[in-house]
Amino acid sequence: MNFWLGKEITLVVGGGIAACRVLDLIRGLKTRGAGVTVVGTEAATQFVTPLTFHAISGRPFHGSLFDPSLEGGMDHIRLARETDLVIVAPATADLMAKMANGLANDLATAMLLARKGPILIAPSMNVAMWEHPATRRNVATLQADGVRFCGPESGALACGEEGMGRLAAVETIIETARRCLEPQTLSGRHFLLTAGPTREELDPVRYISNHSSGKMGWGIAQGALRAGAQVTLVHGPVNLPSIPGALAIKVTSAREMYAQVMGLWETHTATQTLDAVILTAAVADFRPVVKSPEKIKKTAATTLNVELEANPDILLEIGRRSQSLVNGKRPFLVGFAAETGSALERGREKMARKKCDILVVNDLFEEGAGFEGETNRVTLLDSAGQEEVWPLMSKDAVGARLVATIAARLHPP
Ligand code: CTP
Repeated sequence: MNFWLGKEITLVVGGGIAACRVLDLIRGLKTRGAGVTVVGTEAATQFVTPLTFHAISGRPFHGSLFDPSLEGGMDHIRLARETDLVIVAPATADLMAKMANGLANDLATAMLLARKGPILIAPSMNVAMWEHPATRRNVATLQADGVRFCGPESGALACGEEGMGRLAAVETIIETARRCLEPQTLSGRHFLLTAGPTREELDPVRYISNHSSGKMGWGIAQGALRAGAQVTLVHGPVNLPSIPGALAIKVTSAREMYAQVMGLWETHTATQTLDAVILTAAVADFRPVVKSPEKIKKTAATTLNVELEANPDILLEIGRRSQSLVNGKRPFLVGFAAETGSALERGREKMARKKCDILVVNDLFEEGAGFEGETNRVTLLDSAGQEEVWPLMSKDAVGARLVATIAARLHPP
């Protein structure tokens, strides 16, 4: 199922240099299946011509409030109503000031004032303009009005200065737009996740690790954020793009991951601000007893013995600690098990031992399941003894479905 297919976006383009970058935003939305109608301010057309907007969006450009050919001057009402989401990008300081004060002296601002549904703003301006008290006031007013923001980001600005003010990346704007449109079933909830492998160092150049890519954890984090949850993601070394909106905490070893998770557990269970803990990380079970301070050299010997000791088991410890909490205040606990044969039998034993509410089992010997691929084939075991076999799906789809399953089982807030 393509989320974007049939979605209608009205894109309001302000008059800033970043107007050039919204051409990629239009392309990105259209490629995904959405329809895009562009409304621009007079100043926007100084940067990109109406013809270019028309050509890229495939639809006429809307720039005038008084165009008699467009439904007798009622274009601003129609554009505000007949769309799923209004995105303002780039939102200049001037456009935000007008929005915050309800001005409506051109098509873009009149349409924004007539809008009753969701609006997403992606600002872009010079850092001094962004930090000016007037802009701060306008941002606060717009947030209080329920307008959502995406960015700006920090970096090199077109004016040659450095700082906050860059238009957010196109992918980030599209992902944030999606979150504006998804049902917010997890609004006010907080999920803590682990993902990826851990690395256990042998010497300054070598380590023991595993094939985990982190993709499964990323898929779940994405699904939870789309449903409106706050997400804290403690992850090992992965080669994946950062997820906008997630609080990502990067660690290397199992002991670092353990320390971070336990710290977060203590803080959030004390304030009852943790709703689910989902531990997908492939934590290394063992680490070298000694990390050599220097590179281990080849010797005449043909073997090298490395003594290993057990790492702490994060899931086991969270399962143990959660038992001391009152049932209604216990975060929902999900573990993963990657097995090679007899997966369900081993999974059931693991679930009982680690005291999870759900254990997601996959058999690495099955086609489509495994660490590095894009897909997974899983079976869900729950503490009531139920078993649910899911078909082969992308890791993102498994993540979204798992998030929906957890959402349905959470205690009422
Ligand atoms: N896990 C963890 N900390 C560890 C080891 C595992 O949190 N040190 C978690 C994983 O994130 C996963 C679950 O425990 O959710 C299952 O991991 P797995 O390695 O399959 O379990 P083990 O208990 O190590 O069992 P075995 O090695 O016998 O398969």
